Parts: sequence; structure tokens; C-alpha cells
Amino acid sequence: MTAPAATHSGTFLIGGELPVNRLGFGSMQLTGKGVWGEPEDPDAAVAVLRRAVELGVTLIDTADSYGPVVAESLIRQALHPYPDDLVIATKAGLTRQGPGKWTPVGRPAYLRQQCEMSLRHLGLERIGLFQLHRIDSEVPLEDQVGELKALQEEGKIAHIGLSEVSVQQLEAARRVAEIATVQNLYNLTNTSAEALLDHCSEAGIGFIPWFPLATGKLSAPGGPLDDISERTGHSPSQLALAWLLKRSPVMLPIPGTSSVAHLEENIAAAEIVLSDDDFAAVSAVAEG
Ligand SMILES: NC(=O)c1ccc[n+]([C@@H]2O[C@H](COP(=O)([O-])OP(=O)(O)OC[C@H]3O[C@@H](n4cnc5c(N)ncnc54)[C@H](OP(=O)(O)O)[C@@H]3O)[C@@H](O)[C@H]2O)c1
Repeated sequence: MTAPAATHSGTFLIGGELPVNRLGFGSMQLTGKGVWGEPEDPDAAVAVLRRAVELGVTLIDTADSYGPVVAESLIRQALHPYPDDLVIATKAGLTRQGPGKWTPVGRPAYLRQQCEMSLRHLGLERIGLFQLHRIDSEVPLEDQVGELKALQEEGKIAHIGLSEVSVQQLEAARRVAEIATVQNLYNLTNTSAEALLDHCSEAGIGFIPWFPLATGKLSAPGGPLDDISERTGHSPSQLALAWLLKRSPVMLPIPGTSSVAHLEENIAAAEIVLSDDDFAAVSAVAEG
């Protein structure tokens, strides 16, 4: 029997001890429009999640605020009881006021409440990776990260992650608790988090690039990867993901899709090893 596709992306140890296959799945696209409410076809969303696990995905990214609650509930419906090797990475710290509306709230009591709610909605006794979705500028960072550390010490979460941070914020957080991952916007057309990525690569901190496909812009026909795609026979989304995987061993892409066909195409990128020339050609698109 051949190994499931995602295993070919290699393994990363979250916090130095929790293994995941590097190519994961992001569940934000499984909710209604504007990341609000139920999807039009919940059965299709469940099918995508089950297929992801069949394809060897062991890292599924989600958040309390996706829906809210909808993405976590779909994950539970599709996959509970969970395979032993599945790591669900959820988040707290963004509140919702309607479709497309997000407001940070980082007060410790709120973060604790949302951790408890995620444990309940996901049907977990411990969350593998719990990420602070945004730093709330109105609450001291030490209080926000300190509460996650307390949750970790109580055994409710295994590892702590951050999202949308600078190198300075990451370092300030690391003075409070051990930070296993960061999740920042990063893809071929937006490499503004380059310095953070290099910092994470040096420190062995997982780097989870969100919008790895620039929300589909990189996959659409007529996009910047068309020529290389024609030459190599790999689809533009596969090139964008293979490029990320080769960029750094701490890179953990979590492409999102609501379609099984797109999922299969994306996860097959784990089996692509870009030559140095093709990597340079894709990098040139990034720089251009
Ligand atoms: N930390 C944060 O603040 C933050 C912010 C945003 C997202 N995230 C996380 O990052 C994950 C990834 O981001 P994302 O899902 O928004 O963006 P993405 O992965 O860059 O792109 C997803 C979009 O691309 C399309 N797509 C995917 N595969 C495709 C393919 N093979 N061919 C053509 N189109 C394709 C999808 O449409 P279809 O559904 O039609 O395939 C969807 O519209 C999210 O799911 C979420 O878990 C985190």
C-alpha cells in the first residue's frame, strides 16, 4: 500500500515533540460566506474533512470564530473519535459581529472561556495547539500569553501558538511562555513576513502561512504561475504549495478549500520536489 500523499511533505515536531505531516488543511472555507454561519452544503464540508485525513493530513487548523463555532462543530461531526495522530489547531482572541467582521478581545477570562468552549465543541480533553488569534492591543501581552500558559499548565492545551505577530512580539511572548508556532499571512505574492519566517526557521518554531494560495488568486487560470505550470505539468496551486514546503523545514501550509477535487490537487503537492531551477523560477514570480 502506498503512503498517503500528505506524508510526503515530511514531519514537523510541534513544540519539539508533537509530530504532524507538514502539509495540513485549513477549515475556514468550510463555513458560510464571510466566515459566518453554516455552509450551503454541510455534507460536502464533512466529506472534505474526511478526505483530508484519508490523504494523510494530520494538522487541521480551525478557530472558535470560524462560523463562529461552525468549523469546530463540522470537524467533530466528521472526524470524532479522532485518529491518534490528528492535531487540531484552534484559536481564540477574535470576536465576531457579523459576516467579515472580526474584533480582537484578549482579556484572560475571555480566552479561558473560549478554550473551554473549544474543548467542548471539538470533544477534546486537550487541545494540541491553541493559538492566540490576534494580540489585543488593549490588554498587556503578558496577560494574554500568561493565560495560555496557565491553560497549558492545567493540561487543557498541549502547545501555544500566536498569529499575526512581529519578531518583537514573538520574542516578548517567548519571555512569558514557550511558543511552538506562529501563523502569519504568507504566500508567493505576499512575503512581508519573511523576517519572521527566517527567525522561526532559526529557532525551530513552526511557521503556518495563512492564505497560502492567496485565497485562490494563485490557483486561478491566467495567474502568475501559468507558464511554469505548463512547463512542469504541476497546477499553479501545487507549485505555490511545493514552493512553500521547500522554502523552510518549519513551514506548515494549511491550504483551505470546500471542494474534494481541489483538496486532492492541493495535497498531491506534498509529492512534488521542485528542482532548484523551478524553485528559483517560482521565487522570481514572488519577487516580480
Ligand atoms: N490566522 C489568521 O488570521 C488566518 C486568516 C485567514 C485564514 N487562516 C487559516 O488559513 C487557512 C488558509 O487560508 P484560506 O483558506 O483563506 O486561503 P487559501 O488557502 O489561500 O485559499 C483558499 C481559496 O482558494 C481556493 N482554492 C483552494 N484550492 C484550490 C485549487 N486547487 N484550485 C482552485 N482554487 C482553489 C478555495 O476555493 P474552493 O473552496 O472553491 O476550493 C478558496 O477560495 C484558512 O482555512 C484558515 O484555517 C488564518
